[in-house]
Amino acid sequence: MTTQYLFRARIVHFPQACAIPSESVECFDDGAMVVQGNTIVALGDYSTIAPRYPQAQIKDHRGRWIVPGFIDSHLHYPQTEMIACYGKQLLHWLESYTFPTEDKFKDPAYSAKISALFLQQLLKNGTTTGLVFGTVHPSATDTLFTAASELNMALIAGKVCMDRNCPPYLQDSASRAQRESADLIDKWHNNGRNRYALTPRFAPTSTEQQMAALGELAVQYQDVFIQTHLSENTDEIEWVKSLYPQCDGYLDVYDKYHMVRQRSVFGHCIHLTDNEWQRMGDSGATAAFCPTSNLFLGSGLFNFAKARDNHVHVALATDVGAGTTFNMLKTYGEGYKISQLRHDPLSALAGLYMMTQGPAVAYGLDHEIGNLNPGSHADFVVLQPEFDELTSLRLTHPHSAQDMLFALSMLGDDRAIYQTWIAGVCQYRQHKEVE
Ligand code: GUN
Ligand code: ZN
Repeated sequence: MTTQYLFRARIVHFPQACAIPSESVECFDDGAMVVQGNTIVALGDYSTIAPRYPQAQIKDHRGRWIVPGFIDSHLHYPQTEMIACYGKQLLHWLESYTFPTEDKFKDPAYSAKISALFLQQLLKNGTTTGLVFGTVHPSATDTLFTAASELNMALIAGKVCMDRNCPPYLQDSASRAQRESADLIDKWHNNGRNRYALTPRFAPTSTEQQMAALGELAVQYQDVFIQTHLSENTDEIEWVKSLYPQCDGYLDVYDKYHMVRQRSVFGHCIHLTDNEWQRMGDSGATAAFCPTSNLFLGSGLFNFAKARDNHVHVALATDVGAGTTFNMLKTYGEGYKISQLRHDPLSALAGLYMMTQGPAVAYGLDHEIGNLNPGSHADFVVLQPEFDELTSLRLTHPHSAQDMLFALSMLGDDRAIYQTWIAGVCQYRQHKEVE
């Protein structure tokens, strides 16, 4: 029989879908999680679980916490090297930094190198699933899926499609985008733990012909993801209206081409109209809230109340390289500050939900990721909340999961990530010398 490992630690997760995270959180102060092969087979109090698994090898993490692996619902791997570049707002930033950088990914050797480096950044920060934009080059998405497959990671990614309003060296065409995306779907979608996302960059960089071609794929492949940008910046919204005068606003551009549905993940959603919020909720689509990016590019303050009132799934995301960190806990921390400015504070448990079970439920993946339920893949993080003098002092007193997560959202970084496990294998450990 495959070795069983029993992890002993404080444990927190959300076993089910819920509207109010504080009511559905499950917490074990002296917890046990049993992993066999790539799967979690038991979860509960140490005192009840341990006697049932006398053969299991104990991994003693008392003083630490176990949480589900984080899901980062929107980020750009080719922008890893241009994180933290000074510069103005969205459209200027894209032209000055993003497009020239993405050109480098025409070279598969270069994209393979950055793919590996990028995935290491995710692991180092406890992220086990990402919804990731590639570049226009199909080979750059190939290299990312290849690297993720070596880690057995549940990656969702896609080749960017754009055929106007960007430098000619980054343009495909309607037919090429359709053919190359279809080829990548056939190669990678549901291959191992990989899943494909159709990825029109955003409405301004696609012609109607390209949107129609991708819309045909969305209809043909009902279970693929769709990822793009929506209503991030007011200049961008005016531009979309001028490019698509026949559409009734920004979201309607995607709707017209069958791209608003479950597993559609729209980055930003800052300036949506009431009708658009309602359509988001009715369709089962997800808004990816990217607080560090929204502050960095001065895009605006996400409106949680609207999302809540319209039952819209909200997932947290870094949006690296406009986002300024790979760390999802810090990302929640910036989201909290935005929610304070809106006088609608977002709790740390709500933050944890939006980076674990919330998106897993929204994407129909909660049988596999997002929680620590028996039967799910063993994708999890061992947190070390007391990692320096200050965090040790702050967390001396008995603390709840909520308090620990909140403190880490303000004070933490990758030093709080002790280990990251994917499908039952430790793929990152901070302290190489210890088991
Ligand atoms: N809108 C279109 N492309 C991008 C991008 O790369 N980053 C951000 N933040 N917004 C976009
Ligand atoms: Zn983005």
